Amino acid sequence: MEKFLHALLPFIFFLLRFTSRCCSSEHETYSRPPARNIIFSPHHGLQSAAQQVHVSLAGRDHMRVTWITDDKHAPSIVEYGKQPGTYSAEVTGNHTSYRYFFYSSGKIHHVKIGPLEPGTVYYYRCGGSGPELSFKTPPATFPLEFVVIGDLGQTEWTNSTLTHASSRDYDVFLLPGDLSYADTNQPLWDSFGRLVERHASQRPWMVTEGNHEIEILPIIQPHGFKAYNARWLMPYEESNSSSNLYYSFNVAGAHVIMLGSYTDFDENSDQYRWLEADLSSIDRKKTPWVIVLLHAPWYNTNNAHQGEGESMRKAMEELLYKARVDAVFAGHVHAYERFTRIYDNKVDPCGPVYITIGDGGNREGLALTFKNPASPLSLYREASFGHGRLRMLDETRAHWSWHRNNDSNSFSADEVWLDSLSTSAACWPFEGEKEPPESIADDEL
Ligand SMILES: *[C@@H]1O[C@H](CO)[C@@H](O)[C@H](O)[C@H]1NC(C)=O
Ligand SMILES: *[C@@H]1O[C@H](CO)[C@@H](O)[C@H](O)[C@H]1NC(C)=O
Ligand SMILES: *[C@@H]1O[C@H](CO)[C@@H](O)[C@H](O)[C@H]1NC(C)=O
Ligand SMILES: *[C@@H]1O[C@H](CO)[C@@H](O)[C@H](O)[C@H]1NC(C)=O
Ligand SMILES: [Fe+2]
Repeated sequence: MEKFLHALLPFIFFLLRFTSRCCSSEHETYSRPPARNIIFSPHHGLQSAAQQVHVSLAGRDHMRVTWITDDKHAPSIVEYGKQPGTYSAEVTGNHTSYRYFFYSSGKIHHVKIGPLEPGTVYYYRCGGSGPELSFKTPPATFPLEFVVIGDLGQTEWTNSTLTHASSRDYDVFLLPGDLSYADTNQPLWDSFGRLVERHASQRPWMVTEGNHEIEILPIIQPHGFKAYNARWLMPYEESNSSSNLYYSFNVAGAHVIMLGSYTDFDENSDQYRWLEADLSSIDRKKTPWVIVLLHAPWYNTNNAHQGEGESMRKAMEELLYKARVDAVFAGHVHAYERFTRIYDNKVDPCGPVYITIGDGGNREGLALTFKNPASPLSLYREASFGHGRLRMLDETRAHWSWHRNNDSNSFSADEVWLDSLSTSAACWPFEGEKEPPESIADDEL
């Protein structure tokens, strides 16, 4: 009976999708180049085998190791050390699981390990047996390199984007929303976890939510983000946030803020108050770079998803501007677009650079058409799959590059040097602010 219902599920979801705001039926009128096939990654191992391993930063000097077992009795143990095969430490963590309609998840293990040394390779094993994996912790100082990819999905394009991205070393992976495109079909979350494990078990993956993570079904599943929150636990408690949907972290000299486009963001919301407090706690001497990720772009000249980020922009743009945020990365629009520094729809040398990078390779394909004439705020735009890299060389200089997937090649199509606003004398103190932030005041500007 249960098998029979499972076979019916995709059909039921297909019908329900049109009644909920969660899913992928965006009725764009433009045509897209062929999206590639979904890769379904099955699990062949034992019930107790660790699958879908991924690691994430979890507060100062700590990492969280997450994996899933079909076996509900498998222990939540991580053994790790600096030499292969020799585990000098062992930590027992927590586990969770969830039900979604007829689907029942495996045991989802979350184990926070540390303190760890920076810039160090650790060898580790999940659940007390099985294969050894390794990850590298981020460095304590510059240079620091991020890979940034939004709207990833799990197609053949996804796989080539990830292969290109990891063909050169980097420290931290940033994903501004839309991960698996499971769209309520829960086994696709497991498949996604297996597809990305090769990358996500080796470098910290830091994600925020997109619309495809919501997965609300009227009546049956009225609360959103069930699978996402259970599987992709991020360091929100470590950053004093009350929700997994927005949080922040420091890595080397960067403060990274992950915002939630699909939870409240108005002036009276928890998210707004948290952001205000988070921004005011930044010490630009310790973290000269401040970047923000969110899903629905605030600036966008693509025909797709026009205006969807506008209410959030109106609510929060001033906070980011006054804090002199260096760059804002978004996804959602399946294309690449880079803007100049902006505040309130105008060029402003003290505003963030806005970049849309929703071109990871999901099954919906590309958002092909842009509005014409091009806005003078938009400096480069192209509908192609690819990935971005942000390399912070030191306190003041960073190099951003966007790499188009040229089939089996990757080609650097756009690049720009960025200067951190933390040392831009013209931007501190800003108008209306009586005192410059303490960390800047005693610097020679
Ligand atoms: C387990 O979860 C509890 C409650 O969220 C938390 O306080 C505790 O630190 C966790 N333990 C580990 C080892 O992660
Ligand atoms: C993904 O790409 C890697 C590297 O090119 C390849 O070895 C692997 O077979 C691909 N996976 C799938 C499921 O196509
Ligand atoms: C979180 O709040 C506590 C108490 O208010 C404070 O001591 C701590 O520094 C804060 N942590 C972060 C990461 O902001
Ligand atoms: C793009 O791929 C094609 C076909 O593989 C190749 O001929 C061309 O040289 C590539 N271009 C770049 C810039 O890598
Ligand atoms: Fe999206």
